Amino acid sequence: MLQKSPPKPPRSHNEVSGNTANRQQQAPLPSGRAWRFGRSALILLLVALIPLTVWATTREEAESAIAKAKETREEAVAAGITDSPTNEMIELAESVLPSRQYTRALQYAQWAQRQDAMAMDMLAKQEARAAAGEAAKAAIGSFQEPLDVLQGLIDLTSSDYLTQSEQNLMMMPDSPAQWVAMDGETLFSEPRGPNNVSLEECDFGKGPGVLEGAYVELPRYFEDTGKVMDLETRLVHCMVTLQGFSPDDPEVAQRHGSGSDHMKLQTYIASQSSGFAWNLPLDHPMEKALRDAGEVMFYRRAGKADFACSTCHAETGKRIRASVLPNKNIPQEWTKAISWPAFRVGHDHVRSSQHRLMECYWQMRQAGPMPGSDASIALLSYWTDAARGQPAILPDMKR
Ligand code: HEC
Repeated sequence: MLQKSPPKPPRSHNEVSGNTANRQQQAPLPSGRAWRFGRSALILLLVALIPLTVWATTREEAESAIAKAKETREEAVAAGITDSPTNEMIELAESVLPSRQYTRALQYAQWAQRQDAMAMDMLAKQEARAAAGEAAKAAIGSFQEPLDVLQGLIDLTSSDYLTQSEQNLMMMPDSPAQWVAMDGETLFSEPRGPNNVSLEECDFGKGPGVLEGAYVELPRYFEDTGKVMDLETRLVHCMVTLQGFSPDDPEVAQRHGSGSDHMKLQTYIASQSSGFAWNLPLDHPMEKALRDAGEVMFYRRAGKADFACSTCHAETGKRIRASVLPNKNIPQEWTKAISWPAFRVGHDHVRSSQHRLMECYWQMRQAGPMPGSDASIALLSYWTDAARGQPAILPDMKR
């Protein structure tokens, strides 16, 4: 007689490899056949889970991108950037999650995150500029002869631009600009114009008649005109409103040439800031706006030659014929570039910032901004900001 084999006892859990948790939930297996069936079902389930797992990873990616975006958002809020479209972008990313648009959610989250990171970066740069401004204010310097300032910069750097003319260095103590400045001093304190008042009443930003260190903080915003003004426009303002000149009088209208009242006065006023650190004020929103507009202008390519200022002035080692061009990104070099009024040997005249600006635009074969216009002041604001903290050389001597 065949003896009926007793039913096999169910295998203990430890003998089953794989997912014991699932096994635990199953009812005790009544027979070997049932167990084999259960095992195949389990394998099938695991195979089916593989694509699901891949999907779940994408969801994870999306969720982690959203988490990262939220984290960056919080940092941005802490930095003071509260009003931002990134809030909505993060919400959008979350809103497409239920419909399993994980790639889209990931993109929204990444856009939001980058946007906030960029905003924080810009803010940090702005703050660094403000801090540099504060540092410059603290170390504002005191009067130094132009040649001493230049020599100090040469000792610090080995700039080809600063050292390119040995002859200029030798001539600086006897620069004709010094005589022009002396004439300016006389003109400044002389009661003139229909109102017979001197320019000692004129406020260049540090109080009426205060000239020491005033020029290195121009252009600046003036309450009385509601405008950002540079030295030239401020001088025009005072000659007209204080002294009573008409804008057409030659004293006001003639802006160029060593013999003009303007060049004499500008050279004198500026020379009272020699050795002081450039310190463009950026407290008023208009001052910031013009400085930023100037930056755009500096980099904006246009005209038939498609030049921008940066084409010639944003790299070291650029030359035009024998001239080494100053690099705006090297402040020790750029301070000399923007130190105007300067005696231009090639012109045999003292020239102003506004004059240099006209020449630069002519050089680019572009229609330049109107002298004294907001556009001209924007560029002067930007170029002054680029030399922040470096001592001014006033008056300078150029080729
Ligand atoms: C085609 C090249 C070129 C372009 C573009 C150009 N410049 Fe110049 N820049 C020069 C040359 C050349 C000089 C004179 C250098 C010399 O004479 O030694 C100069 C001089 C200057 C100086 C005075 C430095 C000095 O040593 O005389 C300043 C400041 C300046 N440029 C600013 C600008 C600005 C701002 C712009 C744009 C509006 C601009 N430049 C566009 C070539 C250029």
